[in-house]
Amino acid sequence: MRADDVSRETGNQSGADLKPVIGVRRLKEPMVAPLKTRIFTIANQKGGVGKTTTAVNLAAALSMGGLKVLVIDLDPQGNASTAFGIDRVNTAGIYDVLINDLPMANAAVKVAGFPHLEAIAANSDLAGAEIQLVPAVAREFRLQAALQTFLLAKQNAGQRFDYVFIDCPPSLGLLTINALAAADEVLVPIQCEYYSLEGLSLLLETLGEVQKRLNPKISLTTIVLTMFDSRTRLANDVADNVKKHFPNELINIPIPRAVRVSEAPSYGQTVMTYDASSPGAIAYMSVAREIANRGGAPINIKNESA
Ligand SMILES: Nc1ncnc2c1ncn2[C@@H]1O[C@H](COP(=O)(O)OP(=O)(O)OP(=O)(O)O)[C@@H](O)[C@H]1O
Ligand SMILES: [Mg+2]
Repeated sequence: MRADDVSRETGNQSGADLKPVIGVRRLKEPMVAPLKTRIFTIANQKGGVGKTTTAVNLAAALSMGGLKVLVIDLDPQGNASTAFGIDRVNTAGIYDVLINDLPMANAAVKVAGFPHLEAIAANSDLAGAEIQLVPAVAREFRLQAALQTFLLAKQNAGQRFDYVFIDCPPSLGLLTINALAAADEVLVPIQCEYYSLEGLSLLLETLGEVQKRLNPKISLTTIVLTMFDSRTRLANDVADNVKKHFPNELINIPIPRAVRVSEAPSYGQTVMTYDASSPGAIAYMSVAREIANRGGAPINIKNESA
């Protein structure tokens, strides 16, 4: 995407006292909508690899492309909620959905600055959910059930979501299992560092178990390289290695390590609004467009052969 690929519809935002202006922006060229809602779980049990950054910025980018997007913050750290400027304390969130059977519709909030982006916050109680879920009935399917009900109601009201992104915590516990049971596709962000591939086999093993026992539809469809520094040999080696093992899944547009990307959350923003013409924003926009263009082909192929 070029910097002039986005146009600012309005620079006026009420209540944005301390924050820089968030303009509602749209792309000059809209993105392709999928045939049916694509539900992604963004998972990697390794911490700090760019799961949340990827979730919020892809969601923002797709929404700017005219698509309707939902983000579920399933991490008790609540970083995705923060990046969207959502007040986690006074907002009903995913904890209430998972533990107290609150309908998801009552927890979904509109993300400021985007016409087509909604989020479900990780309220602070979520830290306890992992333990509270252990004795619960159908504990692995709580998120799936709530999400399907919500998506169906939205669809029936003529407001179908095109994309759902579930941001996972850095573990393979019950919250991540719920996310894997609720999704069709897994997106794994990989930071191009020495140990980055070591945890991947454990993630794939878990995915295999989930596929066998909980959700036969789930598959790893997308890998995004994050915090990529093309000047280092290690980053290039890791990228080559990932490409060798996952030629179809890898998105061939690495996200560069970029200061603006890491600054954005402290302003309660994604980099897509914080600095849309910065290298990180441009890369996330290109990755979003690539994901939209791929449009869920692996799922369709599977369905056809089933
Ligand atoms: N492309 C980038 N350039 C610079 N900094 C980045 C980039 N992507 C992510 N970061 C920073 O790296 C840190 C980790 O990113 P992020 O929170 O997205 O990872 P995570 O996998 O969600 O972490 P956790 O496992 O704790 O949930 C954050 O401080 C984030 O701002
Ligand atoms: Mg995170």
